[in-house]
Amino acid sequence: MKKSNPDEGHEHSTGAPSVLLFLLLLALVAKDPAHAGAVDLGVRGGPPGAGGPLNGLTADETTFFNDGSARFLEVESVTGGKNNGLGPRFNSNQCASCHSQPAIGGTSPASNPLISVATLSGAKNVVPWFIVPTGPIREARFVLGPKPKHAPDGSVHDLFVITGRSDAVGCNIAQESFLPAGNALTGKGGSPNIIFRIPTPTFGAGLIESIQDSTILTNMALNPRAKSALGIAGRPNRHLSGNVNRSGNDGTITRFGWKAQNKSLLLFSGEAYNVEMGVTNQLFPQERDETPSCLFNPTPEDAVNFTPAAPANTAVLSDIEAFSVFMRLLAPPSPAPDTPSTVNGRAVFDQVGCMHCHTPTLTTGTAINSGSSTSTSAALSNQPANLYSDLLVHHMGKGLADGITQGGAGPDEFRTAPLWGVGQRAFFLHDGRTNDLLQAIAAHRSPGSEANSVIRRFESLKARLQQDLINFLRSL
Ligand code: HEC
Ligand code: HEC
Repeated sequence: MKKSNPDEGHEHSTGAPSVLLFLLLLALVAKDPAHAGAVDLGVRGGPPGAGGPLNGLTADETTFFNDGSARFLEVESVTGGKNNGLGPRFNSNQCASCHSQPAIGGTSPASNPLISVATLSGAKNVVPWFIVPTGPIREARFVLGPKPKHAPDGSVHDLFVITGRSDAVGCNIAQESFLPAGNALTGKGGSPNIIFRIPTPTFGAGLIESIQDSTILTNMALNPRAKSALGIAGRPNRHLSGNVNRSGNDGTITRFGWKAQNKSLLLFSGEAYNVEMGVTNQLFPQERDETPSCLFNPTPEDAVNFTPAAPANTAVLSDIEAFSVFMRLLAPPSPAPDTPSTVNGRAVFDQVGCMHCHTPTLTTGTAINSGSSTSTSAALSNQPANLYSDLLVHHMGKGLADGITQGGAGPDEFRTAPLWGVGQRAFFLHDGRTNDLLQAIAAHRSPGSEANSVIRRFESLKARLQQDLINFLRSL
């Protein structure tokens, strides 16, 4: 059967008119979005593929997961409330306020909760310029300390103070200044001394915690020729002993946070409780600001509760232990079903070399959860963690460098960001500078980045293949 060919009609035309027609067609093709380049259509719709517990929990594990989830949602007051300890300085009043997209435990939601937290209960905080209604939640670190010494700082400077709140009468400390202001969405052009970090999601965090160091090192040693040809090195964030900056350390590989700076979920919970919310605890027992008029509670404000033993007695745990249990037992995000485009995109991801850093799978060791020092957690043990990260830190070049050193991770080094759940993320990269995956990929390329060769390969792909890769990422 002869198919009718719509182009046949032009075959008879020759000479100048056909050249003109060809040029006209070229112009049309360039304007047509389907040909102009790949696009990221944004957060994948449909139900959140995250937020529930791991499969196969025991009844006790489920009880503790639910208790931890409830505490993760608790809103802190300074005094006189159901949960006390907020401040003197803080970024927010609830773990879940920053970890909520697309479900509790996740990351920054599309609509910023910090705007209302700033003035809750009569507080007079000014909302810093980089916190806007449709922008990411950000915490701020200062690269250098105050003049004239200008010594390296690197620590988190909380956005807000409890001054003015009805539950903090008498406290009168001043809020930090974050000026001069820059572009509120990209952060560009503001004070060069301030860098930003957005929340990382905690789905599947117990699987990450249960990966043995030897697994990370074995994976690091894979494909040495291909990696060095592409300029990819990477090293585990091993803390050396004897450095005052590296407290509580045993020389094993740290893995949580944008610079893989923290060892465990318990450590991160303790740090976050004090740094983000000002709630002292048994890992971090002192207030970060000890202005006497702003100290309302004995410290630590969170501690183990000596309650009588009972089966599945969740009350005995301190909050930081309960938060850790919740995050440890959170299931990883479940990806969307394959389509021909996402299947192809996965192959492209491997071919251009993204997978040399974003390792698709690392397998967990045999892990104890809680409740027994001898029985293993089936849900955490010997499980494939499809995290798309090697858990190593890499030099990412001038464009991404934030000038902060944390443990062994230097000014331009970052942990390969795990990509599971990226399909339902609203903001990308450590400072949340973009909501577009194509821009996140492009930002990998700058002088000094280990990813330069891989990104050049990506950029030389046909638009259709780039689109398949983006569709694959949005399926995760
Ligand atoms: C004001 C917002 C905010 C609040 C409140 C907050 N976090 Fe976070 N969280 C962050 C940011 C920002 C990061 C990334 C920090 C970094 O790596 O520099 C993070 C990272 C984490 C991580 C690391 C996950 C990973 O794999 O990298 C854990 C775990 C975590 N937070 C737990 C908690 C817990 C538990 C609480 C409540 C006690 C809490 N967070 C409260 C902003 C917040
Ligand atoms: C040299 C190692 C390396 C290579 C190669 C690499 N990445 Fe990354 N990727 C990283 C690091 C490190 C980050 C975190 C950077 C930051 O936030 O400053 C990251 C972040 C990302 C993010 C943002 C995730 C988030 O949580 O915000 C995406 C998306 C991403 N990479 C996709 C890709 C794709 C697609 C490729 C291949 C075209 C690729 N990467 C190649 C190391 C790498």
